[in-house]
Amino acid sequence: LVHRSDLRARLAVHQPLFGLKVSTPRVTLQLPTDPDLLDLLQLIDGGVHDPSWMPFSIPWTDTPQPERDRDSLAYWWRARASWSVDDWTWNAAVWVDDEIVGVQALLATDFPVLGEVTTGSWLGRAYQGKGIGREMRSAILHLAFEGLGARRAHSGYVDGNEASRRVSEVLGYVPNGTKARAVRGTVTQEFDVVLERATWEARRRTDVSIAGLEECRGLFGLVRD
Ligand SMILES: CC(C)(COP(=O)(O)OP(=O)(O)OC[C@H]1O[C@@H](n2cnc3c(N)ncnc32)[C@H](O)[C@@H]1OP(=O)(O)O)[C@@H](O)C(=O)NCCC(=O)NCCS
Repeated sequence: LVHRSDLRARLAVHQPLFGLKVSTPRVTLQLPTDPDLLDLLQLIDGGVHDPSWMPFSIPWTDTPQPERDRDSLAYWWRARASWSVDDWTWNAAVWVDDEIVGVQALLATDFPVLGEVTTGSWLGRAYQGKGIGREMRSAILHLAFEGLGARRAHSGYVDGNEASRRVSEVLGYVPNGTKARAVRGTVTQEFDVVLERATWEARRRTDVSIAGLEECRGLFGLVRD
Protein backbone atom coordinates (compact mmCIF):
# COMPACT_ATOMS: atom_id res chain seq x y z
CA LEU A 1 0.00 0.00 0.00
CA VAL A 2 1.41 3.37 -1.03
CA HIS A 3 0.62 6.34 1.23
CA ARG A 4 -0.64 9.45 -0.55
CA SER A 5 2.44 11.61 0.06
CA ASP A 6 4.71 8.71 -0.97
CA LEU A 7 2.66 8.32 -4.14
CA ARG A 8 3.26 11.97 -5.03
CA ALA A 9 6.99 11.72 -4.32
CA ARG A 10 7.31 8.52 -6.35
CA LEU A 11 5.34 9.97 -9.28
CA ALA A 12 7.47 13.12 -9.20
CA VAL A 13 10.58 11.03 -9.85
CA HIS A 14 9.15 10.12 -13.25
CA GLN A 15 6.88 13.13 -13.90
CA PRO A 16 8.28 16.25 -12.19
CA LEU A 17 4.97 18.13 -12.61
CA PHE A 18 3.81 16.20 -9.52
CA GLY A 19 6.63 17.82 -7.55
CA LEU A 20 5.77 21.40 -8.52
CA LYS A 21 4.25 23.26 -5.56
CA VAL A 22 3.14 26.85 -5.09
CA SER A 23 2.45 27.99 -1.53
CA THR A 24 1.13 31.13 0.10
CA PRO A 25 0.48 31.51 3.84
CA ARG A 26 -3.09 30.38 3.09
CA VAL A 27 -3.16 28.00 0.12
CA THR A 28 -1.07 25.25 -1.51
CA LEU A 29 -1.29 24.38 -5.22
CA GLN A 30 -0.12 21.02 -6.58
CA LEU A 31 -1.07 18.68 -9.40
CA PRO A 32 -3.60 16.23 -7.94
CA THR A 33 -2.67 12.54 -7.79
CA ASP A 34 -5.49 10.07 -8.50
CA PRO A 35 -6.56 9.84 -4.82
CA ASP A 36 -6.74 13.65 -4.84
CA LEU A 37 -8.91 13.50 -7.98
CA LEU A 38 -11.40 11.34 -6.03
CA ASP A 39 -11.58 14.12 -3.43
CA LEU A 40 -12.22 16.65 -6.20
CA LEU A 41 -15.09 14.53 -7.59
CA GLN A 42 -16.66 14.53 -4.13
CA LEU A 43 -16.21 18.29 -3.89
CA ILE A 44 -17.94 18.79 -7.26
CA ASP A 45 -20.78 16.55 -6.07
CA GLY A 46 -21.31 18.92 -3.16
CA GLY A 47 -21.88 21.79 -5.65
CA VAL A 48 -19.73 24.41 -7.35
CA HIS A 49 -22.41 27.03 -7.97
CA ASP A 50 -26.12 27.71 -7.64
CA PRO A 51 -27.62 25.33 -10.26
CA SER A 52 -30.00 28.10 -11.38
CA TRP A 53 -27.15 29.79 -13.24
CA MET A 54 -23.97 28.79 -15.07
CA PRO A 55 -20.67 30.57 -14.32
CA PHE A 56 -18.67 28.54 -16.86
CA SER A 57 -18.58 29.18 -20.61
CA ILE A 58 -18.29 25.40 -21.01
CA PRO A 59 -21.19 24.15 -18.82
CA TRP A 60 -19.46 21.02 -17.52
CA THR A 61 -21.28 21.06 -14.18
CA ASP A 62 -24.64 20.45 -15.97
CA THR A 63 -23.59 16.95 -17.07
CA PRO A 64 -25.57 14.36 -15.09
CA GLN A 65 -23.89 11.56 -13.15
CA PRO A 66 -22.25 9.16 -13.76
CA GLU A 67 -21.02 10.88 -16.95
CA ARG A 68 -19.84 13.97 -15.07
CA ASP A 69 -17.38 12.02 -12.96
CA ARG A 70 -16.07 10.15 -15.99
CA ASP A 71 -15.79 13.39 -18.00
CA SER A 72 -13.97 15.14 -15.16
CA LEU A 73 -11.49 12.29 -14.76
CA ALA A 74 -10.97 12.10 -18.52
CA TYR A 75 -10.38 15.85 -18.66
CA TRP A 76 -7.77 15.78 -15.87
CA TRP A 77 -6.07 12.64 -17.17
CA ARG A 78 -6.03 14.01 -20.74
CA ALA A 79 -4.38 17.25 -19.59
CA ARG A 80 -1.70 15.26 -17.75
CA ALA A 81 -1.14 12.81 -20.59
CA SER A 82 -1.14 15.25 -23.51
CA TRP A 83 1.27 17.81 -21.99
CA SER A 84 3.59 19.36 -24.54
CA VAL A 85 5.84 22.40 -24.43
CA ASP A 86 3.62 24.11 -27.01
CA ASP A 87 0.28 23.26 -25.43
CA TRP A 88 -0.11 22.54 -21.73
CA THR A 89 -2.57 22.81 -18.87
CA TRP A 90 -1.47 22.56 -15.24
CA ASN A 91 -4.70 21.70 -13.42
CA ALA A 92 -3.57 22.32 -9.87
CA ALA A 93 -5.69 21.29 -6.92
CA VAL A 94 -5.91 23.82 -4.09
CA TRP A 95 -5.42 22.86 -0.45
CA VAL A 96 -6.32 24.89 2.64
CA ASP A 97 -5.16 23.27 5.89
CA ASP A 98 -4.71 19.82 4.25
CA GLU A 99 -8.21 19.93 2.77
CA ILE A 100 -8.86 20.03 -0.99
CA VAL A 101 -11.05 23.05 -1.74
CA GLY A 102 -10.96 23.46 -5.55
CA VAL A 103 -8.92 23.75 -8.72
CA GLN A 104 -6.71 26.53 -10.08
CA ALA A 105 -5.65 25.88 -13.67
CA LEU A 106 -2.86 27.53 -15.63
CA LEU A 107 -2.75 26.93 -19.37
CA ALA A 108 -0.79 28.14 -22.35
CA THR A 109 -0.32 27.59 -26.07
CA ASP A 110 3.07 28.33 -27.64
CA PHE A 111 4.30 29.68 -24.30
CA PRO A 112 8.04 29.73 -25.23
CA VAL A 113 7.20 32.12 -28.10
CA LEU A 114 4.25 34.10 -26.78
CA GLY A 115 4.83 34.16 -23.01
CA GLU A 116 1.06 34.39 -22.43
CA VAL A 117 -0.93 32.29 -19.98
CA THR A 118 -4.60 31.85 -19.15
CA THR A 119 -6.14 30.84 -15.83
CA GLY A 120 -9.40 29.18 -14.85
CA SER A 121 -10.65 28.13 -11.44
CA TRP A 122 -13.43 26.92 -9.17
CA LEU A 123 -14.00 26.29 -5.48
CA GLY A 124 -16.47 24.04 -3.68
CA ARG A 125 -19.41 26.19 -2.56
CA ALA A 126 -18.53 25.90 1.12
CA TYR A 127 -15.18 27.57 0.41
CA GLN A 128 -16.40 30.48 -1.70
CA GLY A 129 -16.57 34.10 -0.60
CA LYS A 130 -13.75 33.76 1.95
CA GLY A 131 -10.90 35.25 -0.07
CA ILE A 132 -9.55 31.86 -1.19
CA GLY A 133 -10.30 32.53 -4.88
CA ARG A 134 -8.24 35.67 -4.80
CA GLU A 135 -5.42 33.96 -2.91
CA MET A 136 -5.16 31.02 -5.34
CA ARG A 137 -5.21 33.32 -8.38
CA SER A 138 -2.48 35.37 -6.78
CA ALA A 139 -0.49 32.14 -6.22
CA ILE A 140 -0.82 30.95 -9.82
CA LEU A 141 0.13 34.42 -11.11
CA HIS A 142 3.31 34.19 -9.06
CA LEU A 143 4.14 30.90 -10.78
CA ALA A 144 3.38 32.43 -14.19
CA PHE A 145 5.27 35.71 -13.82
CA GLU A 146 8.02 34.93 -11.33
CA GLY A 147 8.50 31.23 -12.04
CA LEU A 148 7.90 31.05 -15.79
CA GLY A 149 8.71 34.65 -16.77
CA ALA A 150 5.32 35.26 -18.42
CA ARG A 151 4.58 38.54 -20.19
CA ARG A 152 0.78 38.58 -19.87
CA ALA A 153 -1.95 36.64 -18.10
CA HIS A 154 -5.51 36.30 -19.38
CA SER A 155 -8.70 35.40 -17.59
CA GLY A 156 -12.35 35.45 -18.52
CA TYR A 157 -15.73 35.54 -16.85
CA VAL A 158 -19.28 35.26 -18.08
CA ASP A 159 -21.76 38.08 -17.62
CA GLY A 160 -22.89 38.14 -14.00
CA ASN A 161 -19.93 36.29 -12.47
CA GLU A 162 -19.17 39.06 -9.99
CA ALA A 163 -16.80 36.98 -7.85
CA SER A 164 -14.55 36.14 -10.80
CA ARG A 165 -14.78 39.68 -12.20
CA ARG A 166 -13.79 41.12 -8.85
CA VAL A 167 -10.85 38.74 -8.29
CA SER A 168 -9.40 39.89 -11.63
CA GLU A 169 -10.09 43.56 -10.97
CA VAL A 170 -8.48 43.52 -7.53
CA LEU A 171 -5.34 41.89 -8.96
CA GLY A 172 -4.93 44.55 -11.65
CA TYR A 173 -6.41 42.96 -14.79
CA VAL A 174 -7.95 45.32 -17.34
CA PRO A 175 -10.76 44.66 -19.88
CA ASN A 176 -9.64 43.03 -23.13
CA GLY A 177 -12.82 42.61 -25.14
CA THR A 178 -15.82 40.32 -25.17
CA LYS A 179 -16.88 37.17 -26.95
CA ALA A 180 -20.37 35.73 -27.48
CA ARG A 181 -20.71 32.21 -26.10
CA ALA A 182 -23.54 29.70 -26.37
CA VAL A 183 -24.23 28.72 -22.76
CA ARG A 184 -27.30 26.59 -21.91
CA GLY A 185 -28.69 27.38 -25.37
CA THR A 186 -28.58 31.16 -25.06
CA VAL A 187 -26.09 33.88 -25.97
CA THR A 188 -23.88 34.81 -23.03
CA GLN A 189 -21.18 37.46 -23.10
CA GLU A 190 -17.76 36.37 -21.92
CA PHE A 191 -15.42 39.15 -20.82
CA ASP A 192 -11.71 38.67 -21.43
CA VAL A 193 -9.41 40.46 -19.00
CA VAL A 194 -5.64 40.76 -19.11
CA LEU A 195 -2.87 41.44 -16.60
CA GLU A 196 0.38 42.87 -17.95
CA ARG A 197 3.68 41.87 -16.40
CA ALA A 198 4.49 45.45 -15.36
CA THR A 199 1.21 45.72 -13.44
CA TRP A 200 1.91 42.42 -11.66
CA GLU A 201 5.47 43.53 -10.84
CA ALA A 202 4.22 46.73 -9.22
CA ARG A 203 2.09 44.71 -6.77
CA ARG A 204 4.04 41.49 -6.51
CA ARG A 205 3.99 39.63 -3.22
CA THR A 206 6.95 38.43 -1.21
CA ASP A 207 5.18 35.64 0.67
CA VAL A 208 4.57 33.19 -2.20
CA SER A 209 7.01 30.32 -2.70
CA ILE A 210 7.56 27.94 -5.59
CA ALA A 211 9.15 24.49 -5.12
CA GLY A 212 10.15 21.87 -7.67
CA LEU A 213 10.20 24.17 -10.70
CA GLU A 214 13.81 23.49 -11.62
CA GLU A 215 12.96 19.86 -12.51
CA CYS A 216 10.06 21.11 -14.70
CA ARG A 217 11.98 23.69 -16.75
CA GLY A 218 12.12 21.48 -19.85
CA LEU A 219 8.39 20.77 -19.64
CA PHE A 220 7.65 24.51 -19.82
CA GLY A 221 10.33 25.11 -22.47
CA LEU A 222 12.32 27.39 -20.18
CA VAL A 223 15.91 28.05 -21.22
CA ARG A 224 18.53 27.66 -18.52
CA ASP A 225 20.47 30.81 -17.68
C1 LIG B 1 -14.93 32.59 -8.83
C2 LIG B 1 -14.36 32.03 -7.54
C3 LIG B 1 -13.18 31.12 -7.83
C4 LIG B 1 -13.91 33.24 -6.68
O1 LIG B 1 -13.40 32.79 -5.47
P1 LIG B 1 -13.97 33.30 -4.05
O2 LIG B 1 -13.10 32.71 -3.01
O3 LIG B 1 -15.41 33.00 -3.98
O4 LIG B 1 -13.76 34.86 -4.15
P2 LIG B 1 -13.08 35.78 -3.03
O5 LIG B 1 -13.70 35.44 -1.70
O6 LIG B 1 -11.60 35.64 -3.15
O7 LIG B 1 -13.58 37.20 -3.44
C5 LIG B 1 -12.91 38.00 -4.36
C6 LIG B 1 -13.64 39.29 -4.50
O8 LIG B 1 -14.92 39.08 -5.10
C7 LIG B 1 -15.94 39.56 -4.23
N1 LIG B 1 -17.02 38.59 -4.32
C8 LIG B 1 -16.97 37.29 -3.97
N2 LIG B 1 -18.17 36.71 -4.21
C9 LIG B 1 -18.95 37.67 -4.73
C10 LIG B 1 -20.30 37.69 -5.20
N3 LIG B 1 -21.05 36.59 -5.20
N4 LIG B 1 -20.78 38.87 -5.66
C11 LIG B 1 -20.02 39.97 -5.68
N5 LIG B 1 -18.73 40.01 -5.28
C12 LIG B 1 -18.23 38.87 -4.81
C13 LIG B 1 -15.33 39.59 -2.88
O9 LIG B 1 -15.97 40.54 -2.06
C14 LIG B 1 -13.91 39.98 -3.19
O10 LIG B 1 -13.81 41.35 -3.45
P3 LIG B 1 -13.03 42.31 -2.44
O11 LIG B 1 -11.59 41.86 -2.49
O12 LIG B 1 -13.27 43.67 -2.96
O13 LIG B 1 -13.65 42.05 -1.10
C15 LIG B 1 -15.43 31.23 -6.73
O14 LIG B 1 -16.45 32.08 -6.30
C16 LIG B 1 -16.05 30.08 -7.54
O15 LIG B 1 -15.50 29.00 -7.59
N6 LIG B 1 -17.24 30.33 -8.15
C17 LIG B 1 -17.94 29.31 -8.91
C18 LIG B 1 -17.16 28.86 -10.11
C19 LIG B 1 -16.67 30.01 -10.93
O16 LIG B 1 -17.37 30.99 -11.12
N7 LIG B 1 -15.46 29.88 -11.47
C20 LIG B 1 -14.84 30.91 -12.29
C21 LIG B 1 -15.30 30.78 -13.68
S1 LIG B 1 -14.55 32.06 -14.66
